[in-house]
Amino acid sequence: MDYVRNCWYVAGWSNEFDEALEKQTILEENIVLYRTSEGEVAALEDRCPHKFLPLSMGKRIGDDIQCGYHGMTFGPHGRCVRIPGQDNLPNTAYVHRYPTHEKHGIVWIWMGEPERADPADIFDIPQFTDPAWSPHFGEALHLDSNYLNVADNLCDPAHVSFVHPTTLGNSAGEDVPVKTERDGSVVVTSRWIRNAPPIGFFQKFGGFTENVDRWHYYYLYVPNIAVIDFGSSDAKAELPEERRSEGVQVFALHFLTPTDATHTVDRWMHIRNTALDDDTAGDTMNDLFKVAFDEDKAILKAVQEEESRIPGRRPVRLAIDVGSNLYRKMVDELVAGERQAAE
Ligand SMILES: [Fe+2]
Repeated sequence: MDYVRNCWYVAGWSNEFDEALEKQTILEENIVLYRTSEGEVAALEDRCPHKFLPLSMGKRIGDDIQCGYHGMTFGPHGRCVRIPGQDNLPNTAYVHRYPTHEKHGIVWIWMGEPERADPADIFDIPQFTDPAWSPHFGEALHLDSNYLNVADNLCDPAHVSFVHPTTLGNSAGEDVPVKTERDGSVVVTSRWIRNAPPIGFFQKFGGFTENVDRWHYYYLYVPNIAVIDFGSSDAKAELPEERRSEGVQVFALHFLTPTDATHTVDRWMHIRNTALDDDTAGDTMNDLFKVAFDEDKAILKAVQEEESRIPGRRPVRLAIDVGSNLYRKMVDELVAGERQAAE
């Protein structure tokens, strides 16, 4: 499986990391992560260079990790600091260190060339820190699917009518065409469903009982982040696109971290402009998201199984697939660019 490496991926929410050694697989690489006494999250190749025992099976000695086999010890920078029984520490005695950075309560890890890691490139949207908005963290959804199929689902307003009939979609949207645009490295797929009954989500949040205008903007930041801007407003208000924040608006954020060719972690959260600082409302909203995302999980698992069973079978392309085709083309270009640079 091809992955974009020069990219910040999410390793987890900040509150998930402490002194314990945590093992993760990202882009098929095994990594051990832990929080040092300085408060930083260290991320090291999870393999002692001596006999290849995972360092996550060793133990913390201060801020270092001692291998559980022969006691070779590595600092949070990845260099060997002790070899029991010899004074000479060879240059080859090190493990790869992955740059990390924390922002907005999220731990980011850089999977590419360390010297190219720039925290200024980490994803941001102003609603994270705007007092008119309330962020609420969700969970890690472990999907049995490669990341490309997951991304397809996250630039796809058309599936909600069929996959999420009780929460995020209803039959009113079935025949409304979707529009796709490219904005730099972001694929934007959108549609408005005007003057139609509210979906379950906005009956609960917004208290809409009459017809609403409902929008969906799927911003897919190539290769690994999706922001789904969706909301509703009273149909009588006839809100134009640029004034939609006057309605009830929610951003569902998905951070994709590929594990391997058939598994992806989708860490999700939301930011909303209603029920600010009301954690109960945030939890209730997340409960609805969980219903919807479990529906996606079942679909994506079955799609992956079928794709793996008959590899190479060409899918029929529909008008609604313009966004996902563009996404895949952009990923291919990034991967090819990295490969060329490496040669
Ligand atoms: Fe979905």
